[in-house]
Parts: sequence; structure tokens; C-alpha cells
Amino acid sequence: MRLRKKIEKKEIDFSRLPTHIAFIMDGNGRWAKKRGMPRTFGHKIGAESLEVVIRHARKLGIKVVSFFAFSTENWNRPKDEVDEIFRIARNLIISKKESFLKSNMRLMVIGEREKLPEDLQKEIIDCEEVTKNNTGLIINIALNYGGRSEIIGAINKLLADGVKSIDEKGFKNYLQTRDIPDPDLVIRTSGEQRLSNFMMYECAYSELYFPKTHWPDFREKELEDAIIEFQSRDRRFGAIKG
Ligand code: IPE
Ligand code: IPE
Ligand code: MG
Repeated sequence: MRLRKKIEKKEIDFSRLPTHIAFIMDGNGRWAKKRGMPRTFGHKIGAESLEVVIRHARKLGIKVVSFFAFSTENWNRPKDEVDEIFRIARNLIISKKESFLKSNMRLMVIGEREKLPEDLQKEIIDCEEVTKNNTGLIINIALNYGGRSEIIGAINKLLADGVKSIDEKGFKNYLQTRDIPDPDLVIRTSGEQRLSNFMMYECAYSELYFPKTHWPDFREKELEDAIIEFQSRDRRFGAIKG
């Protein structure tokens, strides 16, 4: 008799969910190019993935999701593309404000905001204000964000406050991510395996996951696969397994 190997269908263990998942949303341009479309089309469909991931993360019970939407280095792209990314971000914030509010979700934006277009800044402030007392899923969007810039910004504030010495807990209060826990899981789509200046301080002990999927194709199933992969990891934090 031939023994058939039992194929186990892996499922999410809801008692061990990552609290904070951070997404480096990469591969929009390549996704569009493969379809003979302009790069900006990739950003447009990528914004749909962002909406799907937010909705599904909330449904699964994740507490914080961060999204890298525009880096301090992305200014080196053609102006048309940069403008389109900001336009998509603004439209998304405007169109989702009501649903964030109703679904008890809170928006926060990290990065050098003062350099963003004014109309986008205005919508960010408005949406943050409207959703600030919500206690459900926190949606953290990194716009004109760089990890080094965040750290230097914190140091400059410390100097301005005349602080002579600080510990890790104190330093956290000077970071833009002061209100959220560090990411447990960082997902970078499109197969690239680097942080590209994303939350370098906060990701010191994050699990890293690099699916080949381009961001516009990253949807419910891909999020679930990432969580299942996370749950197969052994997080030791420098200790020895008991
Ligand atoms: C990520 O996709 C989105 C942003 C950086 C804004 P890309 O635009 O980097 O897509 P690829 O990497 O060129 O495919
Ligand atoms: C990182 O992607 C930034 C965002 C996803 C917003 P990039 O496509 O800009 O990164 P590199 O240039 O490949 O490192
Ligand atoms: Mg890229």
C-alpha cells in the first residue's frame, strides 16, 4: 500500500498575530511595464492593493500597519511620476477618510511632511485630526520618509532640548514612530531584499519577508501567506531557545 503524504494546509494562528506589519510597497513600475503600461498605472493599482491590505489586516485583527509610499530618495524620479504619486495619495486620503472614521481606524503620517505639496499636507492634517481618537487599526503612511532623516531629526530635537544623555526608551519618544510599537514583520514586495532607508532604527529585530509578488498583485492571500511565514519563524531576540 502506498502511503500518501499528508499535505498540511497551513493556517493563521490567531493567538500569535504580528502586532505591527510594515510594507515596503515595491514593484509598481515593473508590474506596469510588464503590461505595456506607464509606471503611474502601477501606482494607481498599487493604491488599490493598499486599500485591500488595510481592510484585510483589520479583519484579521492586526493592530498597526505601516506603508512606505514615498522615500526621501524618490524625489530623484521624473517630476510627472512624483506628482502622480502625491495625487494618488491625496485622493486616497480624501476618499477613505469617512471609512477610516466609521471603521474606528486612525491615520498617521511619518516623514518630512513640510516638503510635501500643500494640498496633500492639508488632507493629511484633516484626516489625522478626524481619526485621532479612533482606537482600532492604526494606519501609518511614510511619505517623504527616510530612516536616517528621522534619526537625525530626533537628534536635532534632543540637542534643541539641551538633553545631555538619553536611553533607548527616552530616544523612542523623539522618533516619529513614538506612538506605535516596532514592526514585528517587514514585507518588501517584488523580490528586492533591502530596506532602502525604511524604519532602520525600528526594524532592529523585525522579521523580514521578501515575496516575489509585485505590490499591485499583493492582496488578501499574499497577506495571509506572509503572516503564516512570520509564524514559522523563531524569534529569539538574542536569547537561547528554551
Ligand atoms: C514602488 O514601486 C512605489 C514607490 C517607490 C513610490 P516602484 O515605483 O519602485 O516600482 P519598481 O521598483 O520601479 O518596479
Ligand atoms: C523604496 O522603493 C521606497 C518605497 C517603496 C516607497 P524604491 O524602489 O524607491 O527603492 P530602491 O531604489 O529600489 O532601493
Ligand atoms: Mg522600486
